[in-house]
Amino acid sequence: MKSVKIIGTGSYAPSKIVTNSDLSKIVDTNDEWISSRTGIRERRITTGEDTSVLSTKAALEAIKNANIDPLDIDLIVVGTASPDKFIPSTACLVQAEIGAENATCFDISAACTGFIYALNIGTQFIKTGQCKTALVIGAEVLSKIVDWSDRSTCVLFGDGAGAAILQSSHDENGILSIYTGSDGRNAAEFLGCSAVPVRNPFIKSAEKQESLVTMNGKDIFRFGTKIIPKCIEEVFKEQDCTIEDIKYIVPHQANMRIIDSAAKRLEIDSDKFYMNLDRYGNTSAASIPLALNEMARNGLLHRGDKIILVGFGGGLTFGAALIEWMID
Ligand code: UT7
Repeated sequence: MKSVKIIGTGSYAPSKIVTNSDLSKIVDTNDEWISSRTGIRERRITTGEDTSVLSTKAALEAIKNANIDPLDIDLIVVGTASPDKFIPSTACLVQAEIGAENATCFDISAACTGFIYALNIGTQFIKTGQCKTALVIGAEVLSKIVDWSDRSTCVLFGDGAGAAILQSSHDENGILSIYTGSDGRNAAEFLGCSAVPVRNPFIKSAEKQESLVTMNGKDIFRFGTKIIPKCIEEVFKEQDCTIEDIKYIVPHQANMRIIDSAAKRLEIDSDKFYMNLDRYGNTSAASIPLALNEMARNGLLHRGDKIILVGFGGGLTFGAALIEWMID
C-alpha cells in the first residue's frame, strides 16, 4: 500500500457578508440569539456564483499551493449537497474549468461529512495505486436550498468551498488514519432536503414540491455532541499517539455549543478546536477544508504537526481523519 499526503490546500468564499443584524430584517431574530446559541456572527452568501465556481476557485488555490500541473490530477471528488446540476457532476464542471483532462471526476453526497468522505475516497484510490494525485473538494451553495422564511435554519448556513491536493508518497505518510460511518435510520427527520418527486406520464402527477432544507436542530445537536468524541476515539485505534499529541482538531463548524460539549466529553480544552464559525456560519461540506486552509494561510500548521479533521451531518454521516502535516 502506498502512503498519501496532503501537498496543498485552497479555499474560497463569496465576498458578500451577511451579518446577524442583516438577517433580523428578513426573519424574526436578533444578533444576541444567534451569537449566543450558535457562535455565528456573519456568513458569506453568493450573489450568483454557483457551487462549481466556488469549487474551481478553491481548487486553483490548492493547485498553486501544491505547485502541480492540473494535468497531473487523475481524480477529482467533490463532496456537496448543493450541486449546480444533477448532470453533469460538479467535479466534471471543475475539471473543465481547471483543465484537468486526465482526471476521473464524480460527486459524493454525504452532507456536512462530504469532505471527510471525499478525503477517504481520494486516499483509498492513491493507496491502492489507482491514481497518484487527487483533488478533493467540499463545496456548498446552501443559500439556494435554505428556507429563508424559517428562522431556526436560515440563520445557520453559509456558502463556501475548500480543497486539498493529495499525492502518493514513498517515504512520508501524512494521512495516518480515517474513520467514516453512517446511520440512515430516521435520517430525513433529522436533516433533509427533497430532490424532485416521482413523476412520469404513467402515474398521476405528484404535488409540486420545493427543495428546501428542513432540520430538527435539537436531535442533530445531541448527535453532534456524542459522535465527535466517538470519531476522534476511532482514529486513534492502532495508532501510537493520543489526544495529547494533537495540535489542532478541525471540526465541522456547526455550533460552538456542540464543540464545547464535545470538548468536555473528551476532557480537553475547547481551544484545541480551530473555529471560524463566527465568520462563515455552517458551510456544510466546505466547513472543514475552509478552516484547514485558513490555518495553513495563517501559518498555524508546521511539518510534523498532528491534526484531526472531524465531521458529522445529514444522512446521518460522520467521520474523522488523523493527519500528520507534511508541508513546510
Ligand atoms: O451541520 C449539521 C447540521 N446542523 C446542526 O448541527 C445544527 C444543530 N442544532 C443547533 O445548532 C441548535 O439546535 C439550534 C441553533 C438550531 C437551535 O438552538 P436551540 O438552543 O436548540 O433552540 P431551540 O430550537 O430550542 O429554540 C429555542 C427558542 C424557540 O422559541 P420558544 O419555543 O422557546 O419560544 C425558538 O422558536 O428559540 C426560538 N428560535 C429563535 N429565536 C430567535 C429559533 N430560532 C431562532 C432565531 N432567532 N433564529
